[in-house]
Amino acid sequence: MRILVTGGCGYIGSHTAVELLNAGYEVVIVDNFYNSQPNVVDKIKTITQKDFAFYEEDCCDEKAMRKIFSEQKIDAVIHFAGYKAVGESVEKPLAYYRNNIDSTLVLLSVMKEFGCRKFVFSSSATVYGDPASLPIKEDFPLSTTNPYGTTKLFIERILTDIAYAEKDLSVALLRYFNPIGAHESALLGESPNDIPNNLMPYIMKVATKQLPILNIFGDDYDTPDGTGVRDYIHVVDLALGHIKALEKLEHETGVLIYNLGTGKGYSVLDLVKTCERVNHVEVPYQIVGRRPGDIAACYADPTKAKEELGWTAEKGIEEMCRDSYNFVIKNI
Ligand code: UFG
Repeated sequence: MRILVTGGCGYIGSHTAVELLNAGYEVVIVDNFYNSQPNVVDKIKTITQKDFAFYEEDCCDEKAMRKIFSEQKIDAVIHFAGYKAVGESVEKPLAYYRNNIDSTLVLLSVMKEFGCRKFVFSSSATVYGDPASLPIKEDFPLSTTNPYGTTKLFIERILTDIAYAEKDLSVALLRYFNPIGAHESALLGESPNDIPNNLMPYIMKVATKQLPILNIFGDDYDTPDGTGVRDYIHVVDLALGHIKALEKLEHETGVLIYNLGTGKGYSVLDLVKTCERVNHVEVPYQIVGRRPGDIAACYADPTKAKEELGWTAEKGIEEMCRDSYNFVIKNI
């Protein structure tokens, strides 16, 4: 089976490309390096000792997508490419709607033209908004608090409508919780160019003294230590979830929805302390005000993915913290 991985040089896409190649799939990557580095292509080849086709293109470019589909017999698409910064999406909603939605529409119409009928979408737990209870199940009500999240929700709806009309289409909506960690080779990981928005990359910048201090956004939430609680999942476990979803799509049509999380919640302070302990580093921090739009706690009920896909996250929080750090110190 040949899989087109859009955004395959990005953080989650690159780890998924590795696991696909390791599992014996043929891979074609398309990436425009908007938020990734060209050297990731060679790193994936080094890790897997396998070759694959790569296209530097924008997924909104219909002509370019058509060229890829005419040169490669694509059996399924895993769509990672997209803008993903929550704060930036509030400043630039037009860019977020255009890029994230256009790219999906282009891919879906080119897929139809070429008879490619399997689509895995990179969604997010952000589609649950502020959940009324925990852990979060797939049938919880959906809502969003920012344009980035709304692009994910809209795309989920668009895919659901298309799958209703096109009965031979198979779609998996994978709702990720908070991916952290890195490949054990330390060749792949998360390396934001600017000041990071997300917690783990920020902790890493402080642990390696590239930034002086971590701001913890609030310690007065209704959580065990007052800081925000999230379901951190190792990016390699997350990548493996995509393989399981693809296997499922071989035999099913319609829309399948899965939470990809561990089911365990850790606070900001848990993550800081674990990083300090396992990596023998110091992470100075100060408590500041809450970040607008943040929720107190968010963690998955991953039962559905376990029962229907046979997938569970295996790697614990210590391994996540170690792998994140190993990647960062080898790539400063
Ligand atoms: N936090 C800090 N200081 C920081 C950064 C984050 O205290 O410098 C806290 C946040 O307040 C939150 C926790 O760390 O309690 C995690 O924050 P992240 O920014 O790492 O992650 P979020 O849960 O806010 O958002 C992530 C993704 C979104 C996605 C969302 C879905 O970044 O893309 O999960 O659950 F939509």
